[in-house]
Amino acid sequence: MNLQDFVKLLRARWITLCVALIVAVLGAVAVSMLTTPLYQASTRLFVSTAAGSSLSDMYQGNRFSQERVVSYAELLKGETLAQRTIDKLGLDMTAGALRANVSASAKPDTVLIDVKVLDPSPVRARDIANTLSDEFVAMIRELETPEDGSRPDSRVVVEQRASLPVTPVVPKTGRNIMFGVALGLLLGFGVAIVRDLLDNTVKDRKTLEEIAGTGVVGAVPLDKERRKQAAISFDSDNSGISEAFRKLRTNLQFLAVDHPPRVIVVTSSMPGEGKSTTAINIALALAEAGRNVALIDGDLRRPTLHKYLDLVGAVGFSTVLSGGVGLADALQKTRFPGLTVLTSGTIPPNPSELLGSLAARKVVNELRAQFDYVVIDSTPLVAVTDAAILAAGADGVLIIARYGHTKREQLAHAVGSLEGVGAPLLGAILTMMPTRGTGSYGYSYSYYGDDSTSSSSSRRMSAKLAALELPPPKSDHSLKPPQSIAESGPDIVQQTSAKRRRAAD
Ligand SMILES: Nc1ncnc2c1ncn2[C@@H]1O[C@H](COP(=O)(O)OP(=O)(O)OP(=O)(O)O)[C@@H](O)[C@H]1O
Ligand SMILES: [Mg+2]
Repeated sequence: MNLQDFVKLLRARWITLCVALIVAVLGAVAVSMLTTPLYQASTRLFVSTAAGSSLSDMYQGNRFSQERVVSYAELLKGETLAQRTIDKLGLDMTAGALRANVSASAKPDTVLIDVKVLDPSPVRARDIANTLSDEFVAMIRELETPEDGSRPDSRVVVEQRASLPVTPVVPKTGRNIMFGVALGLLLGFGVAIVRDLLDNTVKDRKTLEEIAGTGVVGAVPLDKERRKQAAISFDSDNSGISEAFRKLRTNLQFLAVDHPPRVIVVTSSMPGEGKSTTAINIALALAEAGRNVALIDGDLRRPTLHKYLDLVGAVGFSTVLSGGVGLADALQKTRFPGLTVLTSGTIPPNPSELLGSLAARKVVNELRAQFDYVVIDSTPLVAVTDAAILAAGADGVLIIARYGHTKREQLAHAVGSLEGVGAPLLGAILTMMPTRGTGSYGYSYSYYGDDSTSSSSSRRMSAKLAALELPPPKSDHSLKPPQSIAESGPDIVQQTSAKRRRAAD
């Protein structure tokens, strides 16, 4: 993983990282709060030996003391001394429990021993430390006094007595929090890396092309405004998303130049991937260029076009198919010039059957005759066959994958369904691309040779040019395809299903 991958991971998984960090720090705080506070009292012992007056005797004596302190430090932590201390203070604890809270360390090359005692009570910690040290002095006197009662070779003095500790030494809240932060970061990165490795969603153009076996004709950025208002007002809107749809419109004219597609089905593998929103805006982008466009709600199960466009949903496609109303009466003009909509109509019990009927083909053909383009919104391919049935009778299909949401195998399955009915796949669209980060819309957008940072005036200019850019639907084969399609189109169309399956894995 290089620095760029690392930054990308941080951007994509910062929520995971923050959650892990917060959980670990809260855990550290909880541990600190639940830990019984312990106070520490310390004494310092000085070990001396009876040395002669000569320099060499003094040296020998000092060496003797330094060797002694190591053994003394061990004796300080011993059971005998602990029991003597308990007896002296009348403590209600075992020698083992007391020993566990006593530590003694001899400073190298000195004759000093530091004794530390931990206890939940500051008074008891001080008393234990002092009594233990006094008892140790007595014990050494007993141990070091020769049997003949002469002067002991070595003696211990309590050089510094314990005072009453004011603040507890355990828990170490600051250290625990630092530890929590380190653990949280480690854990966060670990989870982020694992999630990244396990993430099999479509996030880039190359993967989409490999799995779909067709070129990417559009990259639509995530635009929160679309959740409130699905339709873009192309006459006044020059934001990134409207530019993306204008690009998509431009790219459409280069698809299947020998038989320019006029009846286009928009579908995807799973629900909620942006089919309806994208279908509406493709239709609007075509209408903006002066085309006469019919938009059909081919989703007879969970229709949304009437809601997204504030139209009547009860009379529409299914009503016409059942003979309840004539096509002309079911078509609804919209507030957008050039856009006419055939909403779903009441939800029928047999959508697949209706969509596969001759009547459905007839309706679509009638619309083809009346309009320059017929854009059909449809159902998800993995769930039901409706979209595949519609696709089989259309000039072409645009398949949508939602960035970071559509799984590779779902997309492969959807493409397989289209192939199964011999539907002509025109291209793929990546929707709801994040607008920041290296995998973002801006990155992908520039792939089409556009400058995503273009000024609003240049966008306005391109909006004006948009009206001129679209050739008559059945003509103008003279234009050269844009680079992305020119590069990827022919090769990709020849990709085998096996290659696609490999990509999906
Ligand atoms: N480019 C976009 N930016 C932000 N939100 C979007 C975009 N496209 C679609 N959405 C939102 O995503 C949600 C699903 O969109 P939409 O209804 O178009 O998907 P769908 O594929 O038609 O769903 P279904 O399969 O249920 O019909 C909606 O809330 C919509 O507003
Ligand atoms: Mg929909």
